[in-house]
Amino acid sequence: MPTPRTRKLWLAVSAGTFALLLVAVTVGFRRPPVETPVAQVGELDPTSQPIQFPHDTHAGQFTMSCQYCHFSAERSVDAGIPPVSLCIGCHLEGIVGGRTEQAQAEIGKLRSYYAAGTPIPWKRIYKASDHVHFPHMRHVAAGVTCQTCHGEVQEMGVLEVVAPEAGDLRMGWCVSCHLERGVSRDCTVCHY
Ligand code: HEC
Ligand code: HEC
Ligand code: HEC
Ligand code: HEC
Ligand code: HEC
Repeated sequence: MPTPRTRKLWLAVSAGTFALLLVAVTVGFRRPPVETPVAQVGELDPTSQPIQFPHDTHAGQFTMSCQYCHFSAERSVDAGIPPVSLCIGCHLEGIVGGRTEQAQAEIGKLRSYYAAGTPIPWKRIYKASDHVHFPHMRHVAAGVTCQTCHGEVQEMGVLEVVAPEAGDLRMGWCVSCHLERGVSRDCTVCHY
């Protein structure tokens, strides 16, 4: 039988765990953990991505919409990188395997990640400091196109080049567009 003392202790511990969980859930919800290393702007070596993923083939030649893959952009803070399961719908054995030897090798890597059940460790390219709040959905809802900030991604092969005007994510870049479009420039809108 638990004594009142141990019951109190248990209550305190579970309340503590619950609070921690709540923090984990809210923090996790706002920003999914990014454990992959962040590439420095302009320093990304195209061969440093685990798979040479061509945006021009998918979003250009095959005119796939950006949000087919970055589907959370319109409803969440983060645009998100698609999971392997979304790719494999087209790249399963026997479906799109690639025409060239190089394409086949890259698609082969994709299938290996899928078979192993491991996420692809993509290197993050655009990343604002932790004290900055950037909500994708607000910008998408206001009709600011992806290209305004990320450049003509549908014409890029491996995303080795970051659009210079946006790439360094400086405060002046954000603030000048907010000024132009009459959006709030309150410090607390962008800073935690
Ligand atoms: C077939 C799925 C797919 C489509 C369609 C697609 N993307 Fe991507 N996108 C990815 C994947 C996978 C990555 C991660 C690999 C990389 O960085 O190239 C990525 C990365 C990115 C990044 C860099 C993310 C970072 O690490 O900071 C941006 C920006 C981006 N995509 C924008 C776009 C835009 C804009 C379009 C439409 C013109 C688009 N994407 C269409 C799959 C896709
Ligand atoms: C709607 C179908 C579709 C989806 C979804 C899709 N792809 Fe593709 N992918 C293609 C087609 C079509 C090709 C062109 C194949 C060719 O040229 O032989 C291709 C080519 C490729 C290639 C070969 C490189 C090259 O130069 O052609 C890689 C690597 C690749 N895709 C990775 C991915 C990844 C990673 C994802 C998920 C983020 C993805 N694909 C999602 C249809 C798709
Ligand atoms: C107003 C500028 C702006 C617009 C418009 C915009 N982005 Fe972004 N994007 C950013 C910034 C800034 C970051 C870095 C955010 C961070 O680190 O919190 C980013 C990060 C990303 C990332 C990295 C992964 C992630 O989850 O954040 C992807 C992928 C991406 N954007 C894709 C897109 C796509 C696709 C669109 C269009 C639907 C789009 N972005 C529209 C500025 C923009
Ligand atoms: C090309 C123009 C443009 C750029 C660049 C831009 N924004 Fe915005 N931003 C907008 C627009 C338009 C809205 C939507 C205002 C609305 O919903 O009425 C917005 C809304 C926001 C909001 C929500 C404002 C609110 O009142 O709650 C935040 C936060 C924000 N932006 C942060 C940023 C940050 C951080 C950057 C730079 C990394 C940035 N923005 C870059 C145009 C831009
Ligand atoms: C529209 C969004 C936005 C607004 C409004 C904004 N900031 Fe920033 N701020 C940023 C971004 C983006 C950065 C750069 C973060 C980075 O380097 O990744 C930044 C950086 C900073 C830094 C750190 C400087 C540095 O070199 O990293 C300080 C301090 C700062 N802001 C203070 C303010 C103050 C004070 C205000 C109000 C007068 C303000 N900010 C309003 C987006 C904003």
